Amino acid sequence: MIILGIETSCDETALALVENGTKVIKSLVASQIAMHAPFGGVIPEIAAREHLTQLPLLWEELRSSCPEEIKHIDAISVSQGPGLVGALLVGGSFAKGLALTLDKPLIPINHVHGHVYGALLGLNDFRNLVQLKTLFPALALVVSGGHTHLYLMQSLTDFRLKCFSRDDACGEAFDKVAKLMGLGYPGGPRIEQEALSGDASIFAMPKVAERKEDLFFSYSGLKTFTANIWKKVQGLDKASETKNRQDLCAAFQDAAFEQIIRKIDLVKDDPDCTEATNLIIAGGVAANKRLRALASEKLNLTCHFPGLAYCSDNAAMIASAGYFYYKFSGLATSYQKSTTGNWDVYAQYPYS
Ligand code: KG4
Ligand code: ZN
Repeated sequence: MIILGIETSCDETALALVENGTKVIKSLVASQIAMHAPFGGVIPEIAAREHLTQLPLLWEELRSSCPEEIKHIDAISVSQGPGLVGALLVGGSFAKGLALTLDKPLIPINHVHGHVYGALLGLNDFRNLVQLKTLFPALALVVSGGHTHLYLMQSLTDFRLKCFSRDDACGEAFDKVAKLMGLGYPGGPRIEQEALSGDASIFAMPKVAERKEDLFFSYSGLKTFTANIWKKVQGLDKASETKNRQDLCAAFQDAAFEQIIRKIDLVKDDPDCTEATNLIIAGGVAANKRLRALASEKLNLTCHFPGLAYCSDNAAMIASAGYFYYKFSGLATSYQKSTTGNWDVYAQYPYS
């Protein structure tokens, strides 16, 4: 079964063809990072307009590079939300138009859940459904620019939100800290790069939400703490400033990830999570090598990460999610025609 995935929730326009949920036939991503970088963050209106320009171009590229597979598309899936409303409307409208023209079912996908399926793409270990199903129950962390959501997944399509950030998302904190240090956008990769030359032990960072009953993530305090140290140590002579920035990036990064490890440890002891032996970590921040190393070392769980191409926003993960929802979820079958189902991007769809 071939699913066409469409992703336009933020600043990447993407189309992909995925076969049977795990085999990527083609994944096209047009990143808008260069357009938003001068503003230090994503400008929603620019993002929506750029999706409108890019989608027809990517569709033409897909048609010319995969002419045979295009003829055999079984269904179309699209990020329905959460995300930037204008950007989502462009992708949703394009998807509805294609579904009507090609007369194919349309499957709306929760973008945050979609990230998790990035970890199932192209993995040799999981070539068939029987192997895939053995992953569950599993814990799944989506750690991106907009979300820090930890789920218990009972099956390939059953998400139960166990823990989420009550303020900034982890990736958002990376972006904000990088911005105040003048490192540019997006901040995550720049902080990771700086941290490679830094010593995390130079600056003592606070342990956020330390109590056992604090079943949430929180990053705004860590961001402010880092900002306050930076105010004190910036503007010194060039060499000291560089050294301080590297050390502070390393300390901030480790504190951010220490919190993730601590919360996963807490949630995995929850009575309904004790059978989970696998952990999927997905989303843009999952590209971070330090996070990968810490999770694999410190947690008594088998960790699975998406390939680097499928950590940040892409349409292959949306196509993969579409396949599993189409195949297994009663919810998806009620959306079989693009003219039915609720397409209000503001409401109704369960975004937890
Ligand atoms: O998943 P994503 O592309 O978009 C959202 O759905 O939000 O995630 C983007 C986020 C940004 O905050 C970016 O700074 C962060 O992922 N990120 C990283 C790294 N690469 C991207 N954060 C830490 N380390 C990285 N290597
Ligand atoms: Zn995303």
